[in-house]
Amino acid sequence: MNETPQPAKLRLGVNIDHIATIRNARGGTHPDPVAGAYEAIRAGADGITAHLREDRRHITDDDMERLQQLCSAENIPLNFEMAAVRDMVDIAKRIKPHAVCLVPERREERTTEGGLDVAGLHNSIAPLIRELGENGARVSLFIEADERQIRAAASSGAPVIEIHTGAYAHALDDENHEKASKIFKAMQEGAELGESLGLEVHAGHGITFENVGAIASIPELVELNIGHYLIGEAVFMGLDAAITEMRRCMDEARQKLSLAS
Ligand code: PXP
Repeated sequence: MNETPQPAKLRLGVNIDHIATIRNARGGTHPDPVAGAYEAIRAGADGITAHLREDRRHITDDDMERLQQLCSAENIPLNFEMAAVRDMVDIAKRIKPHAVCLVPERREERTTEGGLDVAGLHNSIAPLIRELGENGARVSLFIEADERQIRAAASSGAPVIEIHTGAYAHALDDENHEKASKIFKAMQEGAELGESLGLEVHAGHGITFENVGAIASIPELVELNIGHYLIGEAVFMGLDAAITEMRRCMDEARQKLSLAS
């Protein structure tokens, strides 16, 4: 008898950038994002994500080195987010993280806004993806759930895409349910297309306890990367409890999916 395939376990990557944002507000060493990563791993994070921005506004080169040491000692993947530029590729080749997520970066933005234009940048980005891959990094591309971008990602040689969930989160915050449903449908179709093209599909940005259930119910997703909300909730409930609750919400969504299939 043919059984319906069950969705894969959904991994939780915890982005610890904003522990560094708080540290840097005073210019000292506390709170240490590497200590935060250690706590996140103890609380059940399946991976640690950190974005070394070109302006070094939160994570520093030294943080990245220490995060890689911690993750390799704990046998936990480090996902190094970075702009697709020469300097960053050289740093990633030296640090040797498990994964590199290429993101668009603009100095004036508050956070990563919009996905990478893989279709437009194809010729310049494909050699960087190859170079990173040859150095052992699993490369993912942070893109919008857009057919043209997903097809370009598949032909770029990257094994993974991360679908940008920010616009969906914003539409829900604005109570614009029509827009949220439209974006959600695009994310569902995008994840399905990505998987059918042989890509591993992740998602991230703006994920909260409230919206994670819907996102986690997209069966093709295998990893969510979550930062700002978890660090914000950690102020009220502690990092361990915030991660435990996020994990519970994700597992609950996946369980409902299994029961429905
Ligand atoms: N994924 C990517 C590629 C990102 O750039 C970010 C933000 O740094 C996140 C996930 C996490 O987003 P948030 O901090 O909104 O949870």
